[in-house]
Amino acid sequence: PRYIWLSRHGESQYNLEGKIGGDADLSERGMQYARKLKDMVSKYVPNHEKFEVWTSTLRRTQQTAQFLPNPKKQWKALDELDAGSCDGLTYQEIAEQFPDDFAARDENKFEYRYRGGESYRDVVQRLEPIIMELENQENVLVITHQAVLRCIYAYFMNSPQEKSPWMSIPLHTLIRLEPRADGTIVTRIKANI
Ligand code: G3H
Repeated sequence: PRYIWLSRHGESQYNLEGKIGGDADLSERGMQYARKLKDMVSKYVPNHEKFEVWTSTLRRTQQTAQFLPNPKKQWKALDELDAGSCDGLTYQEIAEQFPDDFAARDENKFEYRYRGGESYRDVVQRLEPIIMELENQENVLVITHQAVLRCIYAYFMNSPQEKSPWMSIPLHTLIRLEPRADGTIVTRIKANI
């Protein structure tokens, strides 16, 4: 069978502080996940030495991939949804500093585009070449970000793209997708750290 393996980066310093965006390093716990991911890959991924690991250009995904000996590819198109003016803020701060934007996003999370940034629809669009590459790949592990993974996941699950913002992609979980003619089979392996 053909599998696509997905993972969020390990917990970052920003995740701990509740901030969005940025280019933070992994937290202590995030580093533990990076180490554990290497073990999980050896244990659960058949022929793991043969496949590529794809990351974004941001530090937290590369740090998560650092213990894997696989060939790596960095894609700008895998960077997290750009929060524009809200980059580096907590949701509380966004609600205080940009109340209209906060409400507009709540109203339509798929279409809402951050000032100077992106919407989920924008992310779906810039992921098109990645999805095409994924459709051509045998086996690959993609280590990227929550919003990006929600869009990739919705695509393979055949969910309407408008539902992307609500896909559940927890931290510290390796997701295996097995795309088949009759639908995609999902297996989730938790790191328990
Ligand atoms: O900003 C990046 C987050 O990973 C996306 O979370 O779309 O639920 O705000 P959110």
